[in-house]
Parts: sequence; C-alpha cells; structure tokens
Amino acid sequence: MKKIALITGAKGGIGSAISSQLVKDGYRVIATHSAGSQESAQEWFDANNFNTDQVRLFELDVKDTDQCSERLCGLLEEEGTIDVVINNAGITRDGTFKKMSASDWKEVIDTNLNSLFNITQPLFGHMCEKGAGRIVNISSVNGLKGQFGQTNYSAAKAGMIGFSKALAAEGAKSGVTVNVVAPGYTATPMVSAMNTEVLESIKAQIPMKRLATPEEIAMSVSYLLSDAGAYITGETLSVNGGLYMH
Ligand code: CAA
Repeated sequence: MKKIALITGAKGGIGSAISSQLVKDGYRVIATHSAGSQESAQEWFDANNFNTDQVRLFELDVKDTDQCSERLCGLLEEEGTIDVVINNAGITRDGTFKKMSASDWKEVIDTNLNSLFNITQPLFGHMCEKGAGRIVNISSVNGLKGQFGQTNYSAAKAGMIGFSKALAAEGAKSGVTVNVVAPGYTATPMVSAMNTEVLESIKAQIPMKRLATPEEIAMSVSYLLSDAGAYITGETLSVNGGLYMH
C-alpha cells in the first residue's frame, strides 16, 4: 500500500517539485488546487505525465475553514488514511507597510497562515489516533529574518514556525512529527515576478550567489519524511544558500 501525502498549492513552483519528488519516493499524492483552476491543474498533471494512482487532483480553498473541514473529512473516508501533510500554499502581496491595504494583509494571512488551521485540524486527530504522521510546513527565510516590503508575508511565515513548534509538542507522544522547511529565494514564478533590480540586489547578498532550485527544496522535504527524519520534530530547516543563518 502506498503512503498518502496531501500537498496544498501543488502546482506552484515549489509545490510542483515537491509533488514530483513525493511521486518518486513512492507516495500517492493528493494535490490540492484552488477553485476554478481545474483546467490548469489538469494541464499540470498531463505535463508531468502523472497517472491517477500517483496523483489525485483535489479542489480546495485553503482559506475556507468549513469547506476544508467537510472536504478533508470526506477525503479521509475515501482514501482510508492520510500519512503526510505538506502545507505549501502561499501567496505574496508585497508593499511597504504604510501603503499596505487591509485586504493585502488579510489575504496573505488567510492563505499562508490560517490555512494551517484549516488543513491540519481535520487530519491531525486521525494521525494521532493512528500513532504516525508527518507534517511539513513550507515557510520562508523571510519569516525568519523579516523582509522589507513583506510585513504580511513575514508575519505569516513566522507564524507558521510558532504553529509548528507548538503542534510538534502536541503530536510527539503520538508519533506525529511537525517540521518546517524555510526556503530562501527560489527559482519559481513567485520570485520571477519580482522587480528585476530588487531581485538582483537580493541575489548579491546571498553567499552562494544564486537562487535555490525548487528541487533542492523538495529534497529537504523528502529528507524530513524519510526514515532519516524520524526523530526530528519542531525543527526549522533553512535552505537559503546562507542568506540568513540562525
Ligand atoms: N531596506 C531598506 N530600505 C529599503 C529597502 C530595504 N531592503 N528596499 C527599499 N528601500 C527603500 C528605498 O530605497 C526607498 O527609499 P526612499 O523613499 O528614501 O527612496 C523606499 O524604501 C521605498 O522603496 P521602494 O521604492 O522599493 O518602494 P516600492 O513601494 O516601490 O516597492 C516593494 C516596495 C515592492 C515591497 C519593494 O521594496 C520590493 O520588491 N521588496 C522586496 C520584497 C521581496 O523580497 N519579495 C519577495 C517575493 S518572493 C518570496 O516572498 C518568496 C520567498 O519566500 C523568498
């Protein structure tokens, strides 16, 4: 029987690399995508040559608490179990704080942080009852160091780390580990969308002088899910080329 891993934001830059890595690692992947993006999700599925045993597309609004509860309880019944949860869905709405609108604040907190409640709550009890489970939350270097123009994003990404440590404490006795991967600037559409000059100046500050590849982030997730990661919990693994050392 394949282990089952649910990943949010599966078809994004990092999400896509993690999904492919998990398929390679032998998981059945439940790949969530937002409402109204069925067509692009199917295109992503086809482009990666996945089959339906490897990957199941699953529409889910990670911001909607009631929908997540209902749909994830249904998913548990259909699939029988969920072994791994990767909270990866994330967005940016960058802007200096003085100019930040309440909606840009709220949208980022809802998508990047409140989603952890919405996704994890319906599945955590099942993992504890089963006595096994792995949760990996994808934060960011900017949740650790704070980034100019990202009060919303840095707050959400830092919040993910606090959440993970607290949940790790609660899950430990039941065999459920909770960890964070904190990527640095990674070659994804999200980073490509940045102003080129700003991105170049950030790249110049990275000791390794290059962006991470999405595959490098995916491999660190794979490590935490592997037998080698069995005794690691409440930890934040930075994969940032030396941009921030903590
Ligand atoms: N530190 C201090 N001051 C800075 C600064 C910095 N890092 N960056 C800009 N400033 C200053 C500018 O020099 C400018 O000063 P003056 O008014 O005195 O000239 C002032 O702040 C305004 O700066 P901008 O002109 O840049 O302001 P803007 O409103 O045009 O742009 C911004 C704001 C879009 C947020 C821009 O600063 C920016 O793109 N910042 C980087 C945000 C970032 O790193 N996003 C990452 C996206 S990818 C991601 O998030 C993935 C991940 O996890 C890593």
